[in-house]
Amino acid sequence: MHSAITIALSKGRILQESLPLLAQAGIRPEEDPLSSRKLIFSTNRPDVSLVVIRAADVPTFVENGAADLGVAGKDVLMEYEGNGLYEPLDLNIARCRMMLAGPEKTVEHAARLRIATKYVSTARRYFAAQGVQVQIVKLYGSMELAPLVGLADRIVDLVDTGNTLRANGLAPLETIAEISSRLIINKASLKMKHRQVKQLIDLLAVAVATKRDGAFSGARAESSSEGTGSGKQ
Ligand code: ATP
Ligand code: PRP
Repeated sequence: MHSAITIALSKGRILQESLPLLAQAGIRPEEDPLSSRKLIFSTNRPDVSLVVIRAADVPTFVENGAADLGVAGKDVLMEYEGNGLYEPLDLNIARCRMMLAGPEKTVEHAARLRIATKYVSTARRYFAAQGVQVQIVKLYGSMELAPLVGLADRIVDLVDTGNTLRANGLAPLETIAEISSRLIINKASLKMKHRQVKQLIDLLAVAVATKRDGAFSGARAESSSEGTGSGKQ
């Protein structure tokens, strides 16, 4: 008898990159989540359904058991305050860096740097570890605009190609973390639905390895008992 398994996926670019990995692992939604307005999708596997939600909500759904598994960016996990998640597998998708960036030309600023970011906790920890006092300005997007309009001196944001920084006269200054999407698991699901959850971790680990190597490599997931704690690794 199979229990129902729900996998939470982030909308946006993670969704685009998650679906091929899931397909490789033998899981295909019965409707295309990229074009549908639905939020819950049955799949070709009768025991597996998908929910598609905001990136920042994935850890909350998984920690609270509304989903058994989830796919979330490390940036989101570093910012998440909970401590009930396992993070057994780096899916190696949506890769980028979390960076400190600022104007290309050095400009005067007050003694206490103002940092615009949506990654408030991560930025605070980063500067506290360096013993640097900063004022954090919380934004929800378009961080690159903040230094241009005098709202902040620097930003902490994700950088991939660097195009967005360059287009706005900003330059990368320091790398705070390498980012990719991770598989996260509800602790109770790992115990109560162990066989199914472990099978999915293994199938996805093989899918990741297959994509990376362009061929089957037989890679196994890292120990599924590895915990993230609060996700701050
Ligand atoms: P929302 O639209 O819900 O506010 P968002 O704007 O963060 O969320 P996306 O831009 O799709 O949504 O980003 C989702 C995840 O994709 C991020 O949490 C991060 O892990 C990853 N990501 C974001 N920007 C990039 C990028 N430029 N390159 C690669 N991965 C990225
Ligand atoms: C992300 C991030 C940067 C940009 C970096 O934004 O917040 O603005 O990508 O990528 P690049 O280095 O390749 O230019 P996104 O495209 O997700 O827009 P949003 O944050 O406004 O949703």
